[in-house]
Amino acid sequence: MKNIAVFASGRGSNFQAINKHIKSGDIPARVVCVISDKANPPVFDKAQHDNISTHYINRKQFKKEQEYADFLLRILQKYNTDLIVLAGYLKLIPAEIVRKFRHAILNIHPALLPKFGGKGYYGSRVHEAVLKADDKESGATVHFVDEIYDNGLIIKQDKVPVKPDDTPHTLADRVLKVEHRIFPEVVKAFCEDRIQIKNNGVEIKDE
Ligand code: GRF
Repeated sequence: MKNIAVFASGRGSNFQAINKHIKSGDIPARVVCVISDKANPPVFDKAQHDNISTHYINRKQFKKEQEYADFLLRILQKYNTDLIVLAGYLKLIPAEIVRKFRHAILNIHPALLPKFGGKGYYGSRVHEAVLKADDKESGATVHFVDEIYDNGLIIKQDKVPVKPDDTPHTLADRVLKVEHRIFPEVVKAFCEDRIQIKNNGVEIKDE
């Protein structure tokens, strides 16, 4: 049984999708806490509904990056965290935490990385950029987190078509359905120790 700490800034539909699979017993894990950079995001209501602890942590409360990282680390250690899941979390994770949780932090991105990723590519901006580029397909990517935004090893991607009459909103909805499918799949694989890193690539066993 793995202990998962979820970081999220907003709505929390990916948290919900993963937690659904945990509650049904499909993923051998528990969500030990939900951490946010926002004071009262909708994801907190969803977590509290399932009696999951929530923590609001504002970077600005801390004078130094080190104090901020230490505070986060203490919370993660208190819950014996095995896996950090970034489910719509808008801030960068401190480098020290990335080092301590190397290949144990997952992120979902609503495009086919390495395209349309990096700082500034979040929310509807991602889908606006895809439409502007006139790409014929988009999709979602689950990847390991490293020190750079949207840069870590890609674990799983799936595609959707971009339709001629798409708006950022309709495209986001289509991509979100993929996110809710592939993110729980990858979390499950991690919790069942089926993710292997080989020659700087990632393989999911038994899929
Ligand atoms: C998703 O589109 C995800 O890809 C991105 O942020 C959004 C979060 O949505 N990283 P939700 O809060 O999980 O509903």
